[in-house]
Amino acid sequence: MKANVSGNGTRVGIAGVGVYVPERVLTNAELERMVDTSDEWITDRTGIKERRIAAEDEAASDMALPAARQALESAGVDAGELDMVIVATSTPDMLFPATATVVAEQLGANRAAAYDLLAACSGFIYGLSQAYGSVSSGVSRKVLVIGSEALSKIVNWEDRGTCILFGDGAGAVVVEAVDGGGFLGFELGADGSGGGDLCIAAGGSRNPTTEQTVADELHLIQMRGPEVFRFATRVMVSSAAGLLEECGAAVDDVDLYVPHQANKRIIDHAARNLGLPPEKIFLNIHRYGNTSAASIPIALAEAVAEGALTAGKRVLMTAVGGGFTWGSVYMTWSEGRA
Ligand code: UT7
Repeated sequence: MKANVSGNGTRVGIAGVGVYVPERVLTNAELERMVDTSDEWITDRTGIKERRIAAEDEAASDMALPAARQALESAGVDAGELDMVIVATSTPDMLFPATATVVAEQLGANRAAAYDLLAACSGFIYGLSQAYGSVSSGVSRKVLVIGSEALSKIVNWEDRGTCILFGDGAGAVVVEAVDGGGFLGFELGADGSGGGDLCIAAGGSRNPTTEQTVADELHLIQMRGPEVFRFATRVMVSSAAGLLEECGAAVDDVDLYVPHQANKRIIDHAARNLGLPPEKIFLNIHRYGNTSAASIPIALAEAVAEGALTAGKRVLMTAVGGGFTWGSVYMTWSEGRA
């Protein structure tokens, strides 16, 4: 789906951002001692130097909570005002109840509907589109969208093709009516034919957990890296270009490109093909690796903190991930609440 929403009556935007990353830093040098890899290979092939790892007792909701509190504070919104809490994650605390219900309860968001959204690395972008739809239609007034991932818990630490890539963390935003700027358009899609290229094969209703599935390590991430890479490089470009065209915007109109931090080579390829110069690209993959649904909200919060994202700037975000799923958002950063 693709939509230019700039002509819709209500301006809806992001009124506050928050971030949390776990304390523990796992460097490439440490990974060299765990699997047959090298700092040079990881840096060259991915751009990653280090990533954060959740503590043993730290789950997705534990990371979502501080990020959410920061986003609410920066938006000046009380948890009790929230109408909806969406947690985009592939690593929920448990299959159900939803992690969002845990977060809503701990925040004191006692009026809010709460649910998890599973669209892998594209989950946060999907969540933004749902929050936009709910606020612009009048169903909700204030929606908290969180991306939180504890990927270290589902990584196979003996598989050098995946364990070097992923990291943990959370980012959150408050979506509501704003008096300037706001969302301009969305492009979302899915192609289930690539599902097997990036998956956790067991633990669901297709292959319930058994001793055998655990012995076969089917409860951990399996990825055909080069296939995902090929798909991602193509769709990062087509999704963003299609959305800009739908919005009647040129690449030069974009002030800041905040891509999913999947692999620096994927980001560089997309930026090059879209015609975005390096100074417009927000990058933090070297510090966090690929944090899936948390990657774009973490980047947004850091971009705001660094002064790279200020009122009036046009922001383009694109994510691609398991499913396959993808999504782009184009928006003008907001000046304040309506
Ligand atoms: O967020 C969306 C989800 N995922 C992604 O976006 C990931 C997309 N894919 C990728 O980022 C890349 O495919 C990887 C970084 C995962 C792998 O990089 P690649 O350039 O595609 O490597 P490859 O899998 O084609 O492997 C090339 C070589 C192989 O050796 P041979 O067969 O050529 O001798 C691998 O065994 O590199 C080897 N290799 C490694 N060597 C050192 C694979 N992983 C490693 C490693 N250290 N960690």
